[in-house]
Amino acid sequence: MTALRERRDAAIGVFDSGLGGLTVASAIAAALPDEDLLYLGDTARVPYGTRSPATVVRYARNNVAFLKERGVKLVVVACNTVSAHALGGLADGGDTPVLGVIRPGARAALAASRGGPVAVLGTPGTVRSRAYEDAIHELDPERPVHAIACPLFVPLAEEGWTDHAATTLIAREYLAPLAGTGVDTIILGCTHYPLLQRTLRAVADDVLGTHVTLVDSATAVASEVVRFLDATSGRRPPSTTTHRFFVTDAPERTGEVAARFWPAARGVEHVDIKIL
Ligand code: DGL
Repeated sequence: MTALRERRDAAIGVFDSGLGGLTVASAIAAALPDEDLLYLGDTARVPYGTRSPATVVRYARNNVAFLKERGVKLVVVACNTVSAHALGGLADGGDTPVLGVIRPGARAALAASRGGPVAVLGTPGTVRSRAYEDAIHELDPERPVHAIACPLFVPLAEEGWTDHAATTLIAREYLAPLAGTGVDTIILGCTHYPLLQRTLRAVADDVLGTHVTLVDSATAVASEVVRFLDATSGRRPPSTTTHRFFVTDAPERTGEVAARFWPAARGVEHVDIKIL
């Protein structure tokens, strides 16, 4: 097994079903300005959140294989659905460590909360897996958790409808069950949701009648990556960096929306990943 410090000049690989993982990739780029990044958005097969765990695991393996073939030193799963279903098996005891988003998100939520119940908004797959409940209850067994599946947020984010009236209407419908629960913190448990943050904040404050903290796990994941690279002497020494962006379908359309969220996400390239 090659130690990470011997591969410290290699890129960090980040993948998601689509554009959502760019929220995580941009946080990593901000926290680690000397690292090369290789991003893969599986836009040909988005969304993952409504698919069976077996299918999500298969897609995730294809994505990891693609990133490993390009020699990344570390894979960050910038997708809650994959982190919920598949994280354990993706490293397969190989040389390339794999980090997910759920534990950092759960930790960040408990740190932000004023002690009240916590809500999790996620894909149907993430909510069904109860991965957030488990991660939160490992840290605080008594904490009430309300999990809500919000599948329509993913296409709204992919479409760039961040402040659209339709997004507000749909958010009201999804968040309505939180009224009267005393929730003080909401985890955006899907990496697409931070793209809709402004609308979600307004609707959440209104439904709950108080200021609610929205937790976007991107920053927490970036801190986890920093800690991990420091602990393994895997950080790249100061140098100029390259960020590359691959998608499995429609690079022009994806590139246009991606650049609106993260101006550095330019030159999105198309790639055919091997379907295993
Ligand atoms: N962005 C992903 C997540 O964090 C998946 C969204 C989807 O493809 O349904 O769960």
